[in-house]
Amino acid sequence: MSLDTLRDISATLDPGALSLPKERIRILLLENVHESAEGVLAEEGYTSVETVGHALDPHELTERLQDVHVVGIRSRTRFTREVLERAERLFCIGCFSVGTDQVDLAASAEMGIPVFNAPHANTRSVAELVVGMSIMLLRDVFRKSTAAHRGGWLKTAKGAREIRGKTMGIVGYGHIGSQVSVLAEALGLHVIFHDIVPKLPLGNARAVDSLAELLATSDVVTVHVPDTPDTYRLLNRARLATMKPGSCLVNTSRGSVVDLEALADLLSDGHVAGAAIDVFPKEPASPEDALATPLQGIHNAILTPHIGGSTQEAQRNIGTEVALKLAHYSDRGTTIGAVNFPELNLAPHDGTHRILHVHRNVPGVLQQINRIFADAGVNIAGQHLQTRGTLGYVVLDVDPTGSLELLTDLKAIDGTIRARILY
Ligand code: NAI
Repeated sequence: MSLDTLRDISATLDPGALSLPKERIRILLLENVHESAEGVLAEEGYTSVETVGHALDPHELTERLQDVHVVGIRSRTRFTREVLERAERLFCIGCFSVGTDQVDLAASAEMGIPVFNAPHANTRSVAELVVGMSIMLLRDVFRKSTAAHRGGWLKTAKGAREIRGKTMGIVGYGHIGSQVSVLAEALGLHVIFHDIVPKLPLGNARAVDSLAELLATSDVVTVHVPDTPDTYRLLNRARLATMKPGSCLVNTSRGSVVDLEALADLLSDGHVAGAAIDVFPKEPASPEDALATPLQGIHNAILTPHIGGSTQEAQRNIGTEVALKLAHYSDRGTTIGAVNFPELNLAPHDGTHRILHVHRNVPGVLQQINRIFADAGVNIAGQHLQTRGTLGYVVLDVDPTGSLELLTDLKAIDGTIRARILY
């Protein structure tokens, strides 16, 4: 097919229906996304990348998005339904962050726009902090350091313990909990864990029968559960009181999980020897706002401002991971890791045209798609279908002859949200 024919057909289609050469796909990265993202995109052939060092307000964002196909944001850019509706050319969003609360996920799904993030790129950073905090707690470093800042000299071995040979109890053996397990064992700790889902123990770690057993036998308890109704105050006053006397608690998971009033009482009376808390029920929204917690002023409580995952390495990992997801969606239609979209893992398509068809998940769409190709005598070399809630996603690898003309028919199928062709 000649370029002129392609242009004629593309003029009849919506913006974004035909894939552009990679260097003409316009990418906007906001909020100082780590430079690793640009590196990955360049390696993948995407060179039309613009960066902005800050978040944009909805008006500016709408203006800037007019000719943008792919956008990358961190946590401060709000993608509302209104912004999405006006971003005509946009076909995917990368959240260079762990969370995706900043995007209206339902609206973007309805518009056939997948949203990607990097939920586990900071796992190692959290695990390292947990191990470091555990050592600090068993050596009572925080109290001694605070005293030294004031000119004090608390040189004593009393109550200071090595971590080797102690028992670490991990509550929640998921991505972070299992990493902590590996690092802790390398330092000579015995590791036990409790999870509501059966998990394969790593190394010599051992699952215990109950949370009660874990709390009663661990020298350091570290919590790595998600924020769910079941984990709200999982460590409440009654459970905290069953912790082994003289043990320590680390919480880098979510602020809702531990009753901090109760913990403050147990730290003050010495039942719990120390605690390191990185997450709080109510966290300041900005550096100008103040933190308020019952643990302030308690000498054996280390308080950190939700920095478990905040490292340069984690930012770099996030940059790499999200940039690759964006490139693979743009190149191949791969949606693995999308938070609001049916997930398909697709190999590159050589020698075929690839059609991406996003539709409402209603009966008969696949049948209609197949009929269009059968009627036109176009061979389908490969077909993939995945659904998620109200959304269906079909990817077809078809004979290049004639596939472009059929795109108009595909878009006319009832329930179609978006159709795009990669060639
Ligand atoms: P994950 O989803 O990989 O693992 C969570 C584990 O907890 C799962 O194995 C799950 O089965 C288990 N679980 C759920 N409910 C449970 C319960 N009631 N009792 C025992 N186990 C339960 O999550 P991941 O990535 O390991 O994250 C863990 C926590 O760390 C999350 O709350 C996350 O928000 C937080 N986090 C904090 C960061 C920080 O900067 N402080 C950075 C990254 C994550």
